[in-house]
Amino acid sequence: MSIEALIAEEQPESFAFTAANEKEIKRILAKYPPERKASAVMPLLDLAQRQHDNWIPMAAIEEIAKRLDMAKIRVLEVASFYTMFNLKPVGRYFLQLCGTTPCMLRGSDDVTRCIKDKLGIASGETTPDGQFSLLEVECLGACVNAPIVQVNDDFYEDLDYDSTARLLEALAAGKPPAPGSVAGRQGSQSAAGPTSLAGLKPKKARTARKARHA
Ligand code: FES
Repeated sequence: MSIEALIAEEQPESFAFTAANEKEIKRILAKYPPERKASAVMPLLDLAQRQHDNWIPMAAIEEIAKRLDMAKIRVLEVASFYTMFNLKPVGRYFLQLCGTTPCMLRGSDDVTRCIKDKLGIASGETTPDGQFSLLEVECLGACVNAPIVQVNDDFYEDLDYDSTARLLEALAAGKPPAPGSVAGRQGSQSAAGPTSLAGLKPKKARTARKARHA
């Protein structure tokens, strides 16, 4: 995809960080030696995106470049490389669907199909009401509970066609369910329940102490 396709056609004239974010920027910059302040580029992009309705305008790219003494193109390179940064408006719910091998083997195609059936959008598209945007992304780092959809900051895991449909309905109703495994898995335990050391019963603390002193 060309860089032009990633960037919003309509741009605000200016961008200024809020007073609260100015404080946060000071805290972030204090972590780095002054000559290494370019290392703060990702946290500052994240701040700008959160402040600006989940997308980063070019005026914010310029502002960040100025503050970090970086060329504007270097900041834009970072912002356009990572799918976590949006350079044009996205829906209220930004769905990032993982289509990498483990998620694909565990049914991400069914999740894609459900989103297409229920919302009528494919990767890179937003529903006409501005509620949902979809982007297919590479591994989200939660393969053990594949397939995964990230909704804004939250992960929904172990999805299939039906549970994706229920998730979309809940989001449309403005009632996002608790994030995590929709199959009720605890953390990343085996789908069949605990399998390691399952036969061991924890010793009572007192018994263990006695055994040590015996
Ligand atoms: S492959 Fe989907 S989270 Fe890693």
